Order: sequence, then C-alpha cells, then structure tokens
Amino acid sequence: MIKIAPSILSADFNTLGKDIAEVCSGGGDYLHIDVMDGIFVPNISFGIPVTASIRKQTEMFFDVHLMITKPHRYVERFCDAGADLVSFHVEADEPQDIFTAIESIRAKGKKVGIALKPKTPAEVLFPYLPLIDLALVMTVEPGFGGQKFMADMLPKIRTLRAEISRLGLDCEIEVDGGIDRNTSPLVKEAGATVLVAGSAVFRESDRAAAMEAIRNA
Ligand code: DX5
Ligand code: ZN
Repeated sequence: MIKIAPSILSADFNTLGKDIAEVCSGGGDYLHIDVMDGIFVPNISFGIPVTASIRKQTEMFFDVHLMITKPHRYVERFCDAGADLVSFHVEADEPQDIFTAIESIRAKGKKVGIALKPKTPAEVLFPYLPLIDLALVMTVEPGFGGQKFMADMLPKIRTLRAEISRLGLDCEIEVDGGIDRNTSPLVKEAGATVLVAGSAVFRESDRAAAMEAIRNA
C-alpha cells in the first residue's frame, strides 16, 4: 500500500491547523514536517515549538525530515515534541554520531529514517539499512518546495529497493521532491512506498482529491 505524506512546507502557515485537518481527513498517511536550519540547506523553516504545537491538534503520524547539521544533537527533542518517525541526512553527521542518532531515536520508541541528497549514492546507506525503518531519497536538492523532479534519481530508488529485498528487510523507501500525479507512477514502479508531496497537494483547493490522484496515478 502506497502512503502519501503531504508536506506542510507548502501549507499556508496562517491557517496551518485548517490545512492539517484537511489532509488528515482527506486520507493523508504521514504528515511530513520539513525542518531546516539555514546551514545544511539554504533555507530556514520551523522546528520544535511548531511540531509540539501541531501535535496537540492531530493524531496523524508525524514524519519529521531534519535538514539540519549535526542532527544527533536534536533528534531526542523532536521525539519529545511528537515525532513518530525522525529522518536525518547521512551527509549531516559523522558516522559515529549517525549511530548515536539512530540509538537515541530508538530509545524514545520512535521510527528512524535516513535521507540522501541527490548527489549521495545509494551505497552510502547500505551499512545503515538493517538499523532503520525508512530510506528517504531526495528527488530535488533539499531546501525548497515546488522544484522539478529529478528523474535521474530513479536508478537510486531501484538500487535501494534491490538491496532491501536482498537483505529481506522491512524498510520503506520515501521519495521527496517534485512528486505529483505525473511523477508518482515513475517512483512507485522504481520501488518507493511513501510519497511526499508539498505543492502538488497544498496548491490544490481539494486536498483529498489531490492526494488520491497522486496515490492512484
Ligand atoms: C524540500 C522538502 C520537501 C518539500 C517538497 O527540501 O524536503 O519535503 O516540501 O515539496 P514539493 O512536493 O513541492 O517538491
Ligand atoms: Zn522533506
């Protein structure tokens, strides 16, 4: 079953509660929460207080995508703020701190994801695959919504899917960036199981229809 993860980066923050209620009742599976620090990526979004605040409003599964440098410093605080799954970038920390971050998230009883920027090969993730619940393949350069899907990321998705199958793991593959009803069939065919969509959901007035179009395309 394909999961749809609407990204609130493209929501209207002035009516954030209403936008979240619409994607929750409209069939969204994960709520994708993009956290940016202005250092790991050239943009700043929101962080712990916003995550904790929206946690009070909804039972949705919180899929927190950390685009911050040295994420091991903050993963526990995002768990405490209400994350159900915390993903961080493999490029953002030293290997020993990546293992620390994984253990910290697990100790909080939450799920763990690791994200890859477009230029990072799939193989970099192989040592971590048995330890994580989700591999996040960026299909745009992280930092902004509304960018064009990078079709040259499809082989990376296939490589990860093949390795996950070879190891017999129950690891989701999430794709993030430029996903809409046109690109969704491509990533599904390649092996993605969680589809993040920001602008393709929130620019439409009927969010439920937009998510169903992406899921069923
Ligand atoms: C970009 C973020 C994405 C973004 C996707 O760095 O990680 O989650 O919200 O937006 P769209 O779906 O518009 O490409
Ligand atoms: Zn994201």
